[in-house]
Amino acid sequence: MDIFKFLHLSLFLLPLPFISAANPPSCPSSTCFNSNFTIRFPFQAILQAPSNCGYPGFYLSCDNQGNTVISFPYSGDFFVRGINYQEQEIQLDDPYSCLPRRLMDGLNLSGTPFQVSYYLNYTFMLCPIEFTQSRFAVIDCLSNSTNSTMATTSNTLVERMASRCKVLVTIPIPVPWPMPESDSGITSELNGDLQLYWEEPNCEDCETQGAMCGFENNTNQQVICFDSTGTGTTNHLRLIKMISLTIAIPTIICAFCTACICLVHGRRSHGTAGQQNFDPIVTPQPPNTSFPGLDQSTIESYTKVVLGESRRLPMGPNDGTCPICLSDYRAEEVVRCIPECQHCFHAGCIDEWLRLNKSCPVCRNSPSPAHGNQQPV
Ligand SMILES: *[C@@H]1O[C@H](CO)[C@@H](O)[C@H](O)[C@H]1NC(C)=O
Ligand SMILES: *[C@@H]1O[C@H](CO)[C@@H](O)[C@H](O)[C@H]1NC(C)=O
Ligand SMILES: *[C@@H]1O[C@H](CO)[C@@H](O)[C@H](O)[C@H]1NC(C)=O
Ligand SMILES: *[C@@H]1O[C@H](CO)[C@@H](O)[C@H](O)[C@H]1NC(C)=O
Ligand SMILES: *[C@@H]1O[C@H](CO)[C@@H](O)[C@H](O)[C@H]1NC(C)=O
Ligand SMILES: *[C@@H]1O[C@H](CO)[C@@H](O)[C@H](O)[C@H]1NC(C)=O
Repeated sequence: MDIFKFLHLSLFLLPLPFISAANPPSCPSSTCFNSNFTIRFPFQAILQAPSNCGYPGFYLSCDNQGNTVISFPYSGDFFVRGINYQEQEIQLDDPYSCLPRRLMDGLNLSGTPFQVSYYLNYTFMLCPIEFTQSRFAVIDCLSNSTNSTMATTSNTLVERMASRCKVLVTIPIPVPWPMPESDSGITSELNGDLQLYWEEPNCEDCETQGAMCGFENNTNQQVICFDSTGTGTTNHLRLIKMISLTIAIPTIICAFCTACICLVHGRRSHGTAGQQNFDPIVTPQPPNTSFPGLDQSTIESYTKVVLGESRRLPMGPNDGTCPICLSDYRAEEVVRCIPECQHCFHAGCIDEWLRLNKSCPVCRNSPSPAHGNQQPV
């Protein structure tokens, strides 16, 4: 949820003016038989409800297997896996179960009402399988018995792997949260659903109250909120905005400040974005912990050496290659070792890893921060 969405939400926390009592037009909700959610306003199942029941762009269909399908004008069909009417979010998957392939081709949402919360630049690489096996998360549906495809947000890893792997493409990928997920480390198999949200029609407030939005009647496109007794209150975006702006400038400024504070403090506490409400009451975190791994001073405290001609590591086992990037160590390269488990890596590789993960990539032990007294060499 970005700042503008939060601002919207803040605006709608103001009381809605009552306009009129009305009965909703008859728009039955429906469900595709292999799906576990209801299709209702602003969505409409194209073959099952009368026209003028769904908002433009929110048309769904059911395929022969009972999956719910949405068609985007420039990106083709997706299976809808869930709709969160309160958060105004939709979860999508690829009908051929290879969402990464679709994301690699680029997602063009022009002509749809849907938006992306955040983008992260991912680089897709094709590697011989022996370089990725059991070390990196790979994309199974883009891998075979000899080559595997991996995706990473780490430029360092891309540079390190460049000699062994072929870079396929670097492209912005929609993500629910602006950080790579900590447990997937620096590579990702990108196997979550694609999550998009919509802003208009804005029925968050209405849905939160347990009511439902709909068109006021069959002849106009005014969206109003129907409570269970059939009483309608207007929910028209522009009207609300106008009223809000004229009577509530201080509220908006206040909400904006709260949003800023929450965005700075809240990022880390919002791991699986989308399933939960944006909660402004979050535990404050110092801004320099915006990466999920170790802090820079802890990382800096670990032994760092420049390799000599012998390429001998300062400690631990040495098979001549960095376990992260699998490149051979060369003279004059900088390596860093985790003193606790004596595992060494290229400094660039392990620094990036530890910024995102709290544990050693080889033995998965968590280095304790108590190693601050180790002298860098
Ligand atoms: C709906 O089905 C999907 C799989 O198609 C599942 O991941 C999800 O948890 C289900 N949701 C509920 C509320 O049952
Ligand atoms: C989406 O595709 C259309 C048609 O090819 C193009 O005109 C438009 O610029 C594209 N939008 C983006 C954001 O790439
Ligand atoms: C992704 O890369 C493009 C082009 O290199 C850059 O303009 C953009 O800012 C990057 N986006 C992010 C989220 O890093
Ligand atoms: C694919 O795997 C084969 C066999 O391991 C290897 O020779 C080839 O270079 C790989 N291709 C790429 C692009 O990594
Ligand atoms: C595996 O995929 C790579 C790259 O797509 C391709 O060059 C190679 O021929 C494939 N190998 C097999 C055994 O299908
Ligand atoms: C639809 O609602 C508008 C605004 O309340 C009203 O003027 C119009 O008569 C209504 N139309 C029907 C067919 O009820």
